[in-house]
Amino acid sequence: KKLAVFVSGGGSNFKSLHEASLQGRIHGEVSVVVTDKPGCGGSEYANEKGIPVVCFPRRSSLPTALSPFDLITRLREFQVDFLLLAGFLKLVPVELVQAYPRSILNIHPSLLPSFGGKGYYGLKVHKAVIASGARYSGPTIHFVDEHFDTGRILAQRVVPVLAKDTPEELAARVLHEEHQLYVEVVEALCEERIVWRNDGVPLIRIKG
Ligand code: GRF
Repeated sequence: KKLAVFVSGGGSNFKSLHEASLQGRIHGEVSVVVTDKPGCGGSEYANEKGIPVVCFPRRSSLPTALSPFDLITRLREFQVDFLLLAGFLKLVPVELVQAYPRSILNIHPSLLPSFGGKGYYGLKVHKAVIASGARYSGPTIHFVDEHFDTGRILAQRVVPVLAKDTPEELAARVLHEEHQLYVEVVEALCEERIVWRNDGVPLIRIKG
């Protein structure tokens, strides 16, 4: 399978997915990286590894601005099967959601539907979790719809929130699980082990 990874930040999830693909654990390759922040860690890593980078969105004032349809055309040129959001901070345009049904995933660093939506990104998520007094947190992987963090939940992992946690400490504990969970889920995705229950809930079929 061919994968497009969308990044805006450090790209540690992208890196762990890329490594899992090189090791043959994921039966797929990262064919292209899409970013709204050309200088970010994720796009630098893609450059180092020789993976093509597409910038989206370009500033709409520029004559070279990329429309959602231009992006779809580029992704089709790369024959992409799945789109993986890994720390991509922009809302995915509805045209893209419609062009790739049941094929776009996002990872979010809280147990959705709690602590999700616009404004919940980066350390803000972990600060809010700690302030709420919740005893558990963890990453969620979900299919992407036209809103922030509301698509169907596919997988979650739980980590404890410790009494003395700083947002940074909690973020690190969650991120560690993110790397493992995303690889596991994309492994299943590429092996066509996602099944959809009649009520629209996606499930992962265990290997073997
Ligand atoms: C992760 O915590 C992810 O859940 C969130 O943004 C962060 C990205 O980290 N959506 P990285 O860029 O993969 O290191």
